[in-house]
Amino acid sequence: MSTAHNRIGVMHGVNFDVLERRDPEIYGGHSLTELEVRIKHWSRERGLEARFFQSNSEGEFVEHLHRLPELADGVIINAGAWTHYSRAIADALQLSALPAVEVHLSDVESREDWRKLSVFDGMVIAKIFGKGVEGYREAIDVLATELGAARPGA
Ligand code: DQA
Repeated sequence: MSTAHNRIGVMHGVNFDVLERRDPEIYGGHSLTELEVRIKHWSRERGLEARFFQSNSEGEFVEHLHRLPELADGVIINAGAWTHYSRAIADALQLSALPAVEVHLSDVESREDWRKLSVFDGMVIAKIFGKGVEGYREAIDVLATELGAARPGA
């Protein structure tokens, strides 16, 4: 069931298909599927319907952003390393005109300098990082408030 303004796109970029193989000290050791199951659950709790997309191809990621305004009312974006240099993805996000929340599992501000820069600066309603999987719950809360989604049963 999807009523107006409660659909969110959750987009993961490069290397998220192998999340469970990445450094567990930094990324938590879970798989993308496990992460998506939790995001789906938290979204439903907040009256949102989440749809998921992951790609290692920058072009496919851009094309999904082109389609997204027809499919979703808001977006949670973790573009991985593209965050730090892909102006093409930043342009596509801007073009989508969707309210967007940027999420990073790790604390990008306390790692290498190049991770401190985000091409999405000034374009997202919130940037949440360093909170692991919980960061997505926070992002869902931000988007639910933004979209005015009602809590089921509330
Ligand atoms: C990341 C942080 C990026 O710097 C990195 O390239 C990733 C994951 C994160 O979720 O912490 O791939 O976006």
